[in-house]
Amino acid sequence: MKQERLDKIIATQFNVSRRDARIAIRRGKVKVGGKTVRDFGLLTNIDSEISFDGQALNYKEHIYILMNKPKGVLSASSDKNKKTVVDLVPENLRRQGLFPVGRLDKDTTGFLIITDDGDFAHKAISPKYEVYKTYIVQLDGTLTEDMITAFADGIILADGTKCRKATLEILTENTARVKICEGKYHQIKRMFGVVGLGVNELKREAVGALSLPKDLAEGDCVELSTAEIEQIFTDC
Ligand code: URA
Repeated sequence: MKQERLDKIIATQFNVSRRDARIAIRRGKVKVGGKTVRDFGLLTNIDSEISFDGQALNYKEHIYILMNKPKGVLSASSDKNKKTVVDLVPENLRRQGLFPVGRLDKDTTGFLIITDDGDFAHKAISPKYEVYKTYIVQLDGTLTEDMITAFADGIILADGTKCRKATLEILTENTARVKICEGKYHQIKRMFGVVGLGVNELKREAVGALSLPKDLAEGDCVELSTAEIEQIFTDC
């Protein structure tokens, strides 16, 4: 059975600072197994019946939030001047240590996971695990069959970097669905730049086999279930 210090449990699970958790415990606001506990260092089983200010704890080691990222917001945890995706997470899903998994450009919209689980993020981002990210791209020119071959062979970017094989599906004359399993800086924009097209609009619609829900409005978030998280690591 996993045990943690009571102040750590209260701080991480109820999104308060460790200091505030200690003060609250000292003031008798925390109960374990129905009894008030004032020892904030007490090693406590994580699945004990714990309450804080009358609110029952449903312990989760980590949280996985799917956001439909809107335009104009930075993929970062915090910024001095600009609004970040973490600023948009609603109060009921907030925790210490949240960060976005990978970066979408400021003008890119769509599928973005925000979590406090570093191991998960590494697995989702690292090209080694070949988790494919699917984008819908609107271009300023006409797509051709040659571009499908160029993407499949692995585009060589202007600075000489070779990209892994990517899938390009032509949806309309100037709209494509692209799947890549890596996340180099401005990768989609730079890949299309090599074949002579500019990107007008970019939206990520899926990661692995998990798609952005159609009814999730831009700027909104939903907490992912274990089954949904597994879909991320399932081939699309
Ligand atoms: N590729 C880009 O160019 N921008 C993004 O935001 C994501 C992938």
